[in-house]
Amino acid sequence: MASARGEFSSRFGFLMAASGSAVGLGNIWGFPTNTASNGGAAFLFTYLVLAFVLAYPALMAELIIGRHARSNAITALKSISTGPKSQLLAVIVGVAGMITVSFILSFYAIVSGWMIAFFIDPLARILGMSDLSLWLTSDTEIRNSLFVLIFMSLTVYIISAGVKDGIEKWASRLMPSLVGILLLLILYVFTLPGAMDGLRAYLVPDFSRFADPQLLINAMGQAFFSLSLGVGTMLVYGSYINKEENLPVVGSLVALLDIGIAVLAGLLILPAMYVALASGVEIFDEAGGLIAGPGLIVSVLPALFNSMGVIGVFVALAFFALMTIASLTSSISMLEVPVAYAVENRGMGRNKAAVLIGGVISCISLLIVFNFDPLFDLVAGFTTERSQPLLSLFICVFAAWIWSRDGVLAEIKHGSAEADQGLFWKIWPFYVKFICPLAILVVYFQ
Ligand code: PHE
Repeated sequence: MASARGEFSSRFGFLMAASGSAVGLGNIWGFPTNTASNGGAAFLFTYLVLAFVLAYPALMAELIIGRHARSNAITALKSISTGPKSQLLAVIVGVAGMITVSFILSFYAIVSGWMIAFFIDPLARILGMSDLSLWLTSDTEIRNSLFVLIFMSLTVYIISAGVKDGIEKWASRLMPSLVGILLLLILYVFTLPGAMDGLRAYLVPDFSRFADPQLLINAMGQAFFSLSLGVGTMLVYGSYINKEENLPVVGSLVALLDIGIAVLAGLLILPAMYVALASGVEIFDEAGGLIAGPGLIVSVLPALFNSMGVIGVFVALAFFALMTIASLTSSISMLEVPVAYAVENRGMGRNKAAVLIGGVISCISLLIVFNFDPLFDLVAGFTTERSQPLLSLFICVFAAWIWSRDGVLAEIKHGSAEADQGLFWKIWPFYVKFICPLAILVVYFQ
């Protein structure tokens, strides 16, 4: 089936798809709240450093392996293996990535479903349907199940349409809208009383926190989750990049877009929280920290929007549209990982694979919805804190220890003939070989 492989039609298309994967709930929700609860700019600074020195090199490892092999993660890792042991490791890492990303999608779909429900809520209120509004904003199993299914159907719909007509087309439409909505919301929130206090909480560093190992762990976890690393997503997207493309350049653009949008989201969320405080909404939890969990998105911000009167309806619409878009461009990249495998290695049709795998993941989501308390945190914690960094480490091992240096260089040279003279080739091989695995290990065993 290799001949049926898709390809992104342009650099813009790839950038929108890959940054769409990277920019998700992790940026708009996770990053600002992590920053607020980890010493403001102390976290921001640590995150920026880690994103560039650890996450970017790991991202490049995935893009280079993917484009070289032009296949799904398992076949790609096998293709650069050198013997039976590394072949076995390739299968283990590839399969573990596929399972991890499916479980990430299963909890991600629940939260994304909430975003759709909260997006419809202002519409229901405009139409005077207060019963519907109450139902949409109440945390019930039936609401959560319904919206999981709606969100997963959208994801399956886009993935069935393929790389160019599904992923690229939708990411190219949705990502510019996301940036536009984000900027408009920031501008509006900045005009409101209290916004400057939020800006201060975001940007003034608490230097005492720099030494805190927890800050380091959170910043690394955030960086790996945000760049969608370890689970084969970026590897598969890399496999759809044109051979003429300059990989170090497009990779750094993806990292910059991801980091830039996370920093921008901080300029929205923290000022918005302090605006909420100024209008009487509680933004601190019992321990005195900022409310960061689901409460932030499903109660603090909606309370703020409600206090704004009529304009609040439109602000709520815009905000939850933003969240839904961010989720969807990430969820499609998650589903693409197992679908690419099923199509290429199991000879399944794309449509059938998307529906079947999307169906299985939806069932897991429903299982979590109905057993939320033990399962949600367990699945989210295990996949993002344990599995993702470890898998990322193994992908670095493949790129730097198993695959030959000449092979790597030859692949990079496809899109940049002078690559061996450039800065990237002077620094990157050393980074993926030593710094990335070591740093991941250190943080992992903290
Ligand atoms: N990067 C996405 C986010 O920030 C999450 C993600 C993780 C997407 C793993 C794909 C794979 O929300």
